[in-house]
Amino acid sequence: MTLPPTNRAFRLRRRPVGRVTEDDLELVTEPLAEPADGEALVRTLYVSLDPSNRIWMSDMPSYIAPVPLGSVMRGIGVGQVVASRRDDFPVGAFVLGGTGFQEHALIDDANDLGRFTVLPDPLPAPLPLFLGALGHTGITAYLGVHDIGRVAPGETVVVSAAAGAVGSIAGQIAKDRGARVVGIAGGPAKCAHVVDELGFDACVDHRADDFAARLAAAVPDGVDVDFENVGGPVMDAVLLHLNHGARVVLSGMISQYEAADGGDGWAGQRSIGQLIMRRASMRGFIVLDHADRFGEAIDYLGGLLGGGRLRSHETIVDGLDHAIDAMNRLFDGTSTGKLLLRVADPDAPAA
Ligand SMILES: NC(=O)c1ccc[n+]([C@@H]2O[C@H](COP(=O)([O-])OP(=O)(O)OC[C@H]3O[C@@H](n4cnc5c(N)ncnc54)[C@H](OP(=O)(O)O)[C@@H]3O)[C@@H](O)[C@H]2O)c1
Repeated sequence: MTLPPTNRAFRLRRRPVGRVTEDDLELVTEPLAEPADGEALVRTLYVSLDPSNRIWMSDMPSYIAPVPLGSVMRGIGVGQVVASRRDDFPVGAFVLGGTGFQEHALIDDANDLGRFTVLPDPLPAPLPLFLGALGHTGITAYLGVHDIGRVAPGETVVVSAAAGAVGSIAGQIAKDRGARVVGIAGGPAKCAHVVDELGFDACVDHRADDFAARLAAAVPDGVDVDFENVGGPVMDAVLLHLNHGARVVLSGMISQYEAADGGDGWAGQRSIGQLIMRRASMRGFIVLDHADRFGEAIDYLGGLLGGGRLRSHETIVDGLDHAIDAMNRLFDGTSTGKLLLRVADPDAPAA
């Protein structure tokens, strides 16, 4: 296969303050080299838009080093091997790994998101699912509900960002385990989606003026597990309803990510003392630390999907050029389900 002469890639030029702009991420066109010995070249097909992309661009203390200024923007993607000098990544194989925000990525084992993996052949599910329900997104939901939340039948579970990628799956898993599940989402349309399409028992609109009162009415028996994706005022409102011995699964705090590097809006958590009053626990976790559990989680999630007990939804943005707008959509709430960037059409010829 003839490789194209150039690669388009987003390079980080500046650490953003607030929303990401073209001054922060620059789209550059650079020569594309053939892979050297021990390398393989992947044509990126889809890149996952993750709230952590925003953290990686900042220099806040994190579980992974900040993206160095001048580097290709880090990202998790799926693609197809188009040239190879190694046996474990044959040409034509579909792979999952740290492609970054670029048209072509080198597999060289030095990737800071871990090793690339070859996806099963034939593919058991459409490619976007390997970044969503069957990927790091679904696995985060699985580990949070099973291991950290230890959700039991009859308990009340609240899930914030319930119409989003992780939240939508976490709520459905908790429901499958027999819990009463209350979502929190932005706006009536997303709340209707959470109840009518995803099967949550109730959903509370965090943008409503009387959000606190609506939440109180939705959790008359208190909250046993808070699957927390948002932080800030939304989390504070939930903490006020914790039951004795409740578990707070700290998956993420998206409301704080733009403020962590100098932007306005750091909220703190005013109700954190409720953990003491309710003898509750709160535990954070990072999905990438649990690679030894991925197989088990994917089997479980695949079983739910195959059995019609899990619905997955994707918002797909077309074209690498639109990466910045797509990234910002996580923070303005205009996506539903898993947000993905389609960099190339999997069915179109490579060059
Ligand atoms: N611990 C881990 O290993 C791990 C792995 C993956 C993701 N996460 C975390 O999980 C959370 C969800 O990630 P995701 O990929 O599933 O994203 P997502 O929920 O699909 O997208 C973000 C959603 O968050 C909500 N949101 C954004 N800013 C908000 C604000 N200021 N106040 C209230 N809601 C806000 C919006 O929903 P509404 O329109 O409903 O407001 C938005 O659509 C993030 O905190 C992320 O960091 C953790």
